[in-house]
Amino acid sequence: EEAISPATMERMRKTISSLPNDNGWRLPFPFYFYEGFSISTLFLEGIILAQELFQAEPSDIFICSPPKSGTTWIKALTFAIVTRTHFQNSTNPLLSKTPHDILPFYETIFSKRWPHIRQPGIPLIATHTPYTLLPKSVQDSDCKIVYVCRDPKDVFVSLFHFFAKVRFKEHEPISLEEAFEMFCEGKSSFGPYWNHVLGYWKASLERPKKVLFLKYEDMMTDTALYVKKIAEFVGYPFSLEEEEEGMVEKIVEMCSFEFLSNLEVNREGAVESLSKLSQNNLYFRKGKVGDWKNYLTLEMADRLNKITEQKLSGSGLTL
Ligand code: A3P
Repeated sequence: EEAISPATMERMRKTISSLPNDNGWRLPFPFYFYEGFSISTLFLEGIILAQELFQAEPSDIFICSPPKSGTTWIKALTFAIVTRTHFQNSTNPLLSKTPHDILPFYETIFSKRWPHIRQPGIPLIATHTPYTLLPKSVQDSDCKIVYVCRDPKDVFVSLFHFFAKVRFKEHEPISLEEAFEMFCEGKSSFGPYWNHVLGYWKASLERPKKVLFLKYEDMMTDTALYVKKIAEFVGYPFSLEEEEEGMVEKIVEMCSFEFLSNLEVNREGAVESLSKLSQNNLYFRKGKVGDWKNYLTLEMADRLNKITEQKLSGSGLTL
């Protein structure tokens, strides 16, 4: 059993302790500024270790997303797709475990589980890591990447509610305005949000067979279509027979907000792989497109739209 060497651990800790950090959101973990992104130690330790140690295999399928853009949903969907022949209806792990414990962010379990990062029989590896910070072997190999992002206005509103719940109780809550300012400046979990999106967007243009770039809003409009697209992309296409039997619809239903959010496991309990820092139910708030309209002033929406336009200009991407 080869554990991570003390020298590697020490190097990682030294790197982190040399970084500027900020806790404007008043969370249990401040954000450290690493290679252009703002990342909490909970994730950053594993990201740095993976950069040094992780070797991609062509069969790996990375499931990537910035926080609050549909991570829980894409984890559930991809898991249901690739394991659809493994379980009876009643034994599907999605019924008894939260998607974040079924597919933990690999960076959060990296040091504890190394070298057993992959789960037997499941090719999926979930991460919030920005594209440019992925281990080089992941960028270079033929392994697949599925990425999902979302309208930054809804991401911000979702993030604000989420962080209001995970902050330490002894900390004063922060105002929507304060949070908004930090989000616009890129000082948010895995921010700047736009840079996260652009990294994967560019990769998807350069290597369309490697990176599947998805938007939450599109997936909401026609989930079945995207379930089929994802399945085909990751090499698990539905047979005609499966389609006729309603397998696609079954997966859509089992991974829907309504279904998952009402399961006991997702109403109670906390995420094991995140040291129980967040409750399972925090990942299921409303699951709607356009909830920003209930929270942002028109000026705020306008400002975010302008930043988005400016940041994405010339990329061919709109959000
Ligand atoms: P809201 O806060 O807008 O409701 P992430 O999973 O990346 O942390 O993102 C969480 C957001 O996705 C939350 O958005 C949450 O409600 C929504 N969500 C969670 N599960 C979902 C599902 N099965 N289908 C659609 N949206 C879902």
